[in-house]
Amino acid sequence: MKIIRDIEALKAVRGQLSGSVGFVPTMGALHHGHLSLIQKARAENDHLIVSIFVNPTQFLPGEDLDRYPRREEADRKICELAGVDILFMPEISSIYRADEVKLKAPAYLGYILEGNRRPGHFDGVVQVVMKLFGLTRPTRAYFGKKDAQQLRILQKMAEDFFLPLEIVPVDTVREEDGLALSSRNVYLRPEEREKALSISRSLKRASRLVMAGELESEAIKRQMHEMMKDIDVEYVAIVDRDFKPLEKVEIKNTIILVAAKVGQTRLIDNLWI
Ligand code: PAJ
Repeated sequence: MKIIRDIEALKAVRGQLSGSVGFVPTMGALHHGHLSLIQKARAENDHLIVSIFVNPTQFLPGEDLDRYPRREEADRKICELAGVDILFMPEISSIYRADEVKLKAPAYLGYILEGNRRPGHFDGVVQVVMKLFGLTRPTRAYFGKKDAQQLRILQKMAEDFFLPLEIVPVDTVREEDGLALSSRNVYLRPEEREKALSISRSLKRASRLVMAGELESEAIKRQMHEMMKDIDVEYVAIVDRDFKPLEKVEIKNTIILVAAKVGQTRLIDNLWI
C-alpha cells in the first residue's frame, strides 16, 4: 500500500493506473461501516484509493472539528489489511487555497433536515468531494446509505456536473444491538449508548408498522417519537428518494430519517423502505 500525502505525488501515481479505480472518501477513525465500503470497492475495481481527510469546511463553528477522533496508525493498518492500493492523507493546506471557486449544495436538498440543522455543511461536503474526485478520477465512488442525504446530494452533483463516474450506495452497517456504526459513537458514555439504541429501535418499529400495513406518516412518526422520548430528537422525517415529505409511505420509494442528540453527541440514522 502506498501512503501519499502530497497532491502532485497522487496525481502522478493516479496517472499510471489503467483499468477501473474505486474510491472511498472518509474522515478516518475507520470502523466496520467504512470497511464495508472499502471491501465492496476492492471487489469491484482493479485499483482502490481510500482518502482520510477531516474536512474543515463541512464542520460548522462550535461543532466537533477539533475533537473529531483521529487514529492514523490504526486506520493505516485497517487499510493495509483490506487491500487498499493507495491511502491518500492530504494536509488541509494542500487541499484548500485562498479565494477559490465554491460549489454550493442544492437549495432544497442541501438545506432541509441535516442541511437545516447544519447550514452550509453540505456546501463543504460537495466542495471537498469534487476536489477529491478531481484528484483520484474514480470509475466508481462509494458512499454509505447511513448518510442518506449526503449520498443523494453527491449523486445529484455527479449528474448535474456530468461527472464520468458512478456513485455506489452501500448499506448501513450496525452493531449487533442495532446501533448504526459511526465515528462519533466513541463519544457515548455507557448509559448514553443504551439510550442511543432507541433510535434504531424506533426505525425497526417503523419497519414493523409498515409491514403490518400502517402507511400514514404521522402515525408512524408519533410512535417513533414515543419510543425516543428519553433523548433529544431533532427530527423524524418520512420522505421519498428525492427527500420530498410523504404523507403516506410508498414502498420502495421511502426513507425514514432520524437525527437526535444523546448527551452532547449528535447521531443520525435512517431506514430505506
Ligand atoms: P465519514 O463520516 O468518515 O464517512 C465516510 C463514508 O462512510 C461515508 O460514505 C459514510 O456514509 C460511510 N459510513 C459511515 N458510517 C457507516 C455505516 N455505519 N455503514 C455504512 N457506511 C457508513 O461522510 C464523510 O466521512 C464525509 O462527509 C466525506 C464524504 C468523507 C467528505 O468529507
